[in-house]
Amino acid sequence: MPVSVLSRSTSPHAGQKTGTSGLRKKTSVFTSDNYLANWVQALFSSLGSEIDGQTICLGGDGRYFNREAAQIILKLAAGNGISRVIVGKSAILATPAASALIRARSLFGGLIMSASHNPGGPSEDWGIKFNYKSGEPAPERITNEIFKFTETISELKFGDIPDVDLAVVGTTEFDGFTVEVVECTAEYVPLLQQVFDFDMLKAFLSRPDFRMKFDAMHAVTGAYAPKIFCELLGAPESSVVNCGVLEDFGGGHPDPNLTYAKELVDILYSGADAPDFGAASDGDGDRNMILGKGFFVSPSDSVAMIAANAQECIPYFKDGLKGVARSMPTGGALDKVAAKMNLPFYEVPTGWKFFGNLMDDGRCSICGEESFGTSSDHVREKDGLWAVLSWLSILAKRNEGKAAGEKLVTVEDIAKEHWAKFGRNFFSRYDYEGVESEKANAMMDHVRSVIASAKKGDKFGEFELDFADDFEYTDPVDGSVASKQGLRFVFTDSSRFIFRLSGTGSSGATIRMYIEQYETDPSKLEMDAQVALKSLIDVALETSKLEEFTGRDKPTVIT
Ligand code: G6P
Ligand code: ZN
Repeated sequence: MPVSVLSRSTSPHAGQKTGTSGLRKKTSVFTSDNYLANWVQALFSSLGSEIDGQTICLGGDGRYFNREAAQIILKLAAGNGISRVIVGKSAILATPAASALIRARSLFGGLIMSASHNPGGPSEDWGIKFNYKSGEPAPERITNEIFKFTETISELKFGDIPDVDLAVVGTTEFDGFTVEVVECTAEYVPLLQQVFDFDMLKAFLSRPDFRMKFDAMHAVTGAYAPKIFCELLGAPESSVVNCGVLEDFGGGHPDPNLTYAKELVDILYSGADAPDFGAASDGDGDRNMILGKGFFVSPSDSVAMIAANAQECIPYFKDGLKGVARSMPTGGALDKVAAKMNLPFYEVPTGWKFFGNLMDDGRCSICGEESFGTSSDHVREKDGLWAVLSWLSILAKRNEGKAAGEKLVTVEDIAKEHWAKFGRNFFSRYDYEGVESEKANAMMDHVRSVIASAKKGDKFGEFELDFADDFEYTDPVDGSVASKQGLRFVFTDSSRFIFRLSGTGSSGATIRMYIEQYETDPSKLEMDAQVALKSLIDVALETSKLEEFTGRDKPTVIT
């Protein structure tokens, strides 16, 4: 006799619209009145008979409410015909690890409980997202369907099962429904071991003249970093910090950028004694920040530098890259690499989901976004630890055979060599967080009106306009069109500025202003990005009348 189903009535909650990366709201919203159960039931109902007898995975970033949420989800899975759920121990699974699990075990999909880089806790954020068969974030056709079901939902179907102990690895069988608890590293760490040369990395990380610091920011990579860097690669224990996964991320904001990963930044900028390499990852382990000693690698540069060195340094790419891709606002360093290496190149809207089709179609091996996301087709998500291991692989390869005491090639050396070869795309992003939505929308409408009357050749300060538009993307694989993906002004010297509203906030609006300028003059390559971009930043602020519309005279975060 299969698990019996307890039907419970419910009524719709407005606004359960799944955004760029799932549904995100304040935790207190999710914990009230079946809010979570409604969304999960809507997901299962929208998939209909497709999910009968299927296996999915479940896990998350360790934030507050995940463990209770996991029990609710398990009961709904049991009540909706799913036959097996593979759960990360203690409900922990990093986003890229869930993607790896889905792919390695040919699962129907997976649920990830995370609000990514947003803070966690009872008064902070919570979130959930669904990944589909090839491990990719759910396509819009699915998220639109979920939304439709949330608007009319009236019944929740819970399987009549007790809470399952998720703290121990093992299998719990019910009639027709199984819960399998696995280590959070399952399938993922073995995959990384195939992608990278762990022997080479181990030899490098054991050098006494190389020191690294990985900051897990009390988030999910804390469950992976000691195993990967210390246990498997032999780095000293002091190489990883903040690895206790805490429900509130230690009160921090687990977003690896120069503002929120300040503790790590301070260590790497502490002078001659600073470690040689630093890295951090976000709440759910998909973002990354890469630092050298006193040196920041911008994410737009990082993906280009990884792509340029991948074939030589990472076994997974030994036969070369199929192609590369970046999101539209991401700086164009990757374009230069693609052109020089003769690689197919794609520019997609912001959002990892847009890379999935390209990868599934065998068109793209490495992709990245300015929003601190970098990854490859080993999974269908961005992968913070993959980016860190990629950089360590480049350093290890470049320093192979160096005698003790010989000067090592540094992160900074690699970046500077890259700029000398490809030119430098200076890039910066200004974020204006927590702006009132009406004000942000009014500013965007104003910028749209400037675009409507702009013509090629118009002068914006010293810059001559090539074109201005609202970015639209046609997917080369399935022909789907995504419009209104960012207001961009591109100038004849290929400088650009772009305005977009964030799609990942949980309240109010965040305005993002992206600034980019290409430089090949050797005397200017090492300039500070803020100095190099100053005049273009001023032009962008003036064009948008940002201060006038929002009252903000400075951004909340600069990257
Ligand atoms: C998430 C997605 C990324 C995307 C980013 C953009 O992290 O996974 O693919 O680049 O959000 O966020 P935004 O707040 O700019 O919409
Ligand atoms: Zn994330």
